[in-house]
Amino acid sequence: MGEIVLAAKITHVPSIWLSIQPGKHFGIRRPAELALTEVGRRARELGADTFLIADTHWMNSIGFHLNGKPRHQATYVSHELPHFIHDLAYDYAGDPELAELIREEIVAGGQKARVHTYQDLGLEYATLVPMYFMNQDAGVRVLPIGCNIYSTVEENRRIGEALLRAVLRSDRKVAFLASGSLSHAFPPNEIAESLLDDVSSELNRNVDHAVLEMWGEGRISEFLDMLPDYNERCTGEGAMADTAMLFGLLGWRAYNGRGEQLCPYFGSSGTGQVVVDFPVPAFHTT
Ligand SMILES: [Fe+2]
Repeated sequence: MGEIVLAAKITHVPSIWLSIQPGKHFGIRRPAELALTEVGRRARELGADTFLIADTHWMNSIGFHLNGKPRHQATYVSHELPHFIHDLAYDYAGDPELAELIREEIVAGGQKARVHTYQDLGLEYATLVPMYFMNQDAGVRVLPIGCNIYSTVEENRRIGEALLRAVLRSDRKVAFLASGSLSHAFPPNEIAESLLDDVSSELNRNVDHAVLEMWGEGRISEFLDMLPDYNERCTGEGAMADTAMLFGLLGWRAYNGRGEQLCPYFGSSGTGQVVVDFPVPAFHTT
């Protein structure tokens, strides 16, 4: 019987990649680098053999999709921000077996899902940036699930529940990563560069802090009440699908675990970012 061994909400912003390149941005995201590395360390300590990643940069517009390639090997350049991320070579084992179990469970729950193994279906940077820090020796399998940008919170809750059922049917120890932003309002282009280290509005900053307080105090049901509004009013990244999947997997309103914040909240190109590790309920483990 498989297990969820770790569940975390994580940042993936390209400025973390800039932070490890020589030049004027070197070191600007050191706390986030350390937090991602710590999540990876914890996952390994807990015996994780697959990172299952809700990737808000693999944006799907119809249905739900898994990248079930047996091996992910390529060199990445971001089409969105090529000056930030380029020449990122990667080589990770994939997890076709777990991808198929997840597809089965999503379909069993009445939703549509597909597993793909196309040669040219590469990984996106919401997977690649965290994996660089968490999976340096590539010893843990990598399985991304895309985020449907037109999906609802309710749909993604059900996807999260399907992910859990699939993992429990497998023989895997899975670390689940919700790879996405808190608020996600990009500033107008003309001032974008001046907000490299900032959040684009005080409203968003305050709401993000309120969310972190709820997560830290285990007020998850209260958070879920406002998640649809939070997504809409604070310009959720990838429809905040990653967050809804995370809490769907953890038990939704029955979950009252207290998130452990692993780095200070920070702004990046107008968006609100953080890394939070959520304790996995005992009923999710064997
Ligand atoms: Fe992003």
